[in-house]
Amino acid sequence: MSHPLRLGIAGLGTVGIGTVKIIQAHAALLTARSGREIVISAVSARSRGKDRGADLSVYGWEDDPAALAAREDVDVFVELMGGAEGTALDATRAAIAAGKDVVTANKAMLAHHGNELAAMAEEKGLVIRFEAAVAGGIPVVKALTEGLAGNEIRRVMGVMNGTCNYILTRMENAGLPYGDVFEEARGLGYLEADPSLDVDGIDAGHKLSLLAAIAFGKKVSFDDVELEGIGRISIDDIRRAGDMGYRIKLLGVAQETGRGLEQRMTPCLVPADSPLGQLQGGTNMVVLEGDSVGQIVLRGAGAGAGPTASAVMADVIEIARGSRISTFGQPASLLATPVPARANSPAPYYLRMELSDKPGALAKVATVLGDEGVSIDRMRQYGHEDTSAPVLIVTHKTTRDAIDHALKRLPATGVVSAEPVAIRIETV
Ligand code: NAP
Ligand code: HSE
Repeated sequence: MSHPLRLGIAGLGTVGIGTVKIIQAHAALLTARSGREIVISAVSARSRGKDRGADLSVYGWEDDPAALAAREDVDVFVELMGGAEGTALDATRAAIAAGKDVVTANKAMLAHHGNELAAMAEEKGLVIRFEAAVAGGIPVVKALTEGLAGNEIRRVMGVMNGTCNYILTRMENAGLPYGDVFEEARGLGYLEADPSLDVDGIDAGHKLSLLAAIAFGKKVSFDDVELEGIGRISIDDIRRAGDMGYRIKLLGVAQETGRGLEQRMTPCLVPADSPLGQLQGGTNMVVLEGDSVGQIVLRGAGAGAGPTASAVMADVIEIARGSRISTFGQPASLLATPVPARANSPAPYYLRMELSDKPGALAKVATVLGDEGVSIDRMRQYGHEDTSAPVLIVTHKTTRDAIDHALKRLPATGVVSAEPVAIRIETV
């Protein structure tokens, strides 16, 4: 049997301790599957004295994660601290400089520095694996990099932030407004230390940018992801969308278009009876479409100690087995620079507006939409509330540009009493 694979684990929080516990609980199983022992040489975190609910006394300790990364008795640096910059990035660079493979759960770091780190690692014949960085326990990086390697990928789509899905489904199920459920999620410890990472779509956008790089053979380009959070989604929109047969999701979509690479993480309507529409609570779902395989749906826990550590260990075992897959599925030098394309591919749209109680009001709205080439598929008007009535319109396929032009012209009709809401309906 080969010599043991020796790990240095930096970060002993939720994911780090989850990883330690798997290694302690399943030593024999991991050895059998890897063909060699997997051992922890040393660990690092901010506070050495903290009780972490696991026995760490047999491992070496380093206060400085970069020193851990460079230790002689470490083969793989397991970065589980988090943060796009600072200590995690410095230590990862130090690990590569010292000739160590890297396993990380850090989507923020890879979304911002993945191209540089991949190039550095590959120059030295090292690997960086990051299954845990995208959709927690769901093996989506491996699905794309290995299982679907023979396909031209047509589209990558999914709900990749459990906190946002929890908030949206909780709003619907309990009939509570966004602010109340946001506070509830904070109380439950679901939100990142900086909640905007979750609710503004940034965390999910990081994940999407990593999947897009693998799927389309492009450099990671997080800055090109069109981001919109869930903060403006009202309980009214959730209810009304439900009446029309849809649910609202913070949905990521990446696809190659004739204009370039479209990457967006925005609220979208999906059919309520589709797998994405049925997704409840903090669960994640990723939908992959390949030219040969068709559609694959992966669903599971996107966060938490066990699921995320499960993904970390999958990467560790991959390295222990001797697999040397390029960071984004092909050598970094072969990844093309993407041409970003704004999400303007045709889709049906959901429009909600408040119309004044005046004769001909609806006709004026229909005229504006018609002038902009937006065709109405379905429409519903609700009873008047004071002097206005909520109206819902589902359009036939149209472009974001056409919708934006129409929205700009609606105030001039004098019959729309509040700012209309327009949300794309995604075909799944
Ligand atoms: P966490 O519970 O906050 O733990 C972070 C750990 O890193 C702590 O042990 C902390 O030390 C240590 N640390 C932070 N800054 C450090 C520094 N400057 N020097 C040394 N150690 C430092 O975080 P987590 O939830 O486990 O997340 C870790 C990574 O996994 C992040 O990249 C996160 O995005 C990713 N991830 C997490 C989940 C999840 O469900 N939690 C899911 C997917 C991906 P102390 O304990 O001493 O403070
Ligand atoms: N904040 C993230 C989520 C954690 O809610 O999905 C896992 O990446």
